[in-house]
Amino acid sequence: MQVGIDQIGLYTPNKYVDMVDLAHARNEDPNKYLIGIGQTQMSVADSTQDSVSMGINSARRYIDQIDKDKVGLLVLGTESSVDQSKSASLFVKTALQLKPEVRTFEVKEACFGLTAALMIARDYVRVHPEHTVIVIGSDIARYGVNTPGEVTQGAGSISMLIKTDPRILSLNDGHSAYSANINDFWRPNNSKTALVDGKYSTQVYLDFFTKPFNDYKKLKGWSTQDFGSLIYHLPFTKMGLKANRLSVEGQDETTSKRLEKSFAASKQLSKRIGNIYTAALYMSLLSLIENAQLEPNSLIGLFSYGSGAMAEFFSGNLVDGYEEVIDKSGDVRMLDRRKKLTIKEYENIFNKALMDPEDGVELVSDEENGNWYFAGTKNHVRQYKQK
Ligand code: CAA
Repeated sequence: MQVGIDQIGLYTPNKYVDMVDLAHARNEDPNKYLIGIGQTQMSVADSTQDSVSMGINSARRYIDQIDKDKVGLLVLGTESSVDQSKSASLFVKTALQLKPEVRTFEVKEACFGLTAALMIARDYVRVHPEHTVIVIGSDIARYGVNTPGEVTQGAGSISMLIKTDPRILSLNDGHSAYSANINDFWRPNNSKTALVDGKYSTQVYLDFFTKPFNDYKKLKGWSTQDFGSLIYHLPFTKMGLKANRLSVEGQDETTSKRLEKSFAASKQLSKRIGNIYTAALYMSLLSLIENAQLEPNSLIGLFSYGSGAMAEFFSGNLVDGYEEVIDKSGDVRMLDRRKKLTIKEYENIFNKALMDPEDGVELVSDEENGNWYFAGTKNHVRQYKQK
């Protein structure tokens, strides 16, 4: 039975910071951010966008095209939770008007969260082939104003529909997982920004890539040259470039060129949106299929990494006709609609978003019509509204 990704929806908030402006404000050479880190812009979430509203907005990209009665499961992965107890997915389920019989919950393991949701979905569909599953990754990466991690912030969500006979990517059996209890990046309950050992985190990421990638090739009896493309969790695009350099090391010229070209296509969205944690790998997938010339049935290897740390390598084959399902022009429009912020505006929005709004005060959104937003709390209950 073929099970995999049938729809992909992207959402990112309507404001961004230009990395050249940020570099000037931080007294850095712009090329450090543009080349050394590999980012040109980053999306900024104001107080009215959170993991719930962004998750609703990414699923809205395709929700009217699917049979909602067939959805049996909705899983949301995030490391930007809005509640310690209630699942963000319940708010999303309500906004999407899914039926009460849907099983729904939230999962967490840093940026691995959406991969965890995807694997749960794949196994669920194998047991319930008559059902479909919605999986969502939704996050705001916040390190803090004037910190080394600032240039690797971002905000957004990816939602995917998982079903039999998928029209985008058919997932292959088998995976290679690798985990260890380490302290590269985490966010304690009393902090709205992440704590990170930046240099250590980049080294661990590469170590955690190498092992499962080699294990996976052994498991399947494949070599690097069997892959049409390799895509990576992208906390910032230079990180993926370093992993891709390891992948092409010692390969023939044809393989190296193919993997370098496909990596370049896979980083286009990340360069402009920034880190969206759980959803970052799947934004690389969307960017790849929107921007690369891929062979029919092309084999795509996916590297998922969640700090703390948990890594997994798995693969899928591209399904013929995938171009007809994705909405590239919609993604271009969404990026182009964003308002460029001055650094002062960004800092004010950032600092305000760190504070919980006063209970009972309604928040007003400047999003475009149709998008959902967080409207504040009433009696400490979160309110979500559609513009
Ligand atoms: N022109 C071109 N390149 C330049 C330059 C210039 N003028 N100036 C500096 N550079 C290069 C440096 O040589 C360096 O390149 P290499 O990595 O190839 O050596 C690069 O720019 C970055 O420079 P620094 O290492 O000096 O940067 P930094 O000390 O300011 O910190 C960072 C960089 C550690 C990545 C920091 O941004 C950070 O902590 N980010 C958050 C953590 C992170 O994302 N880690 C990734 C793995 S963890 C993960 O994946 C989970 C997750 O999503 C968070």
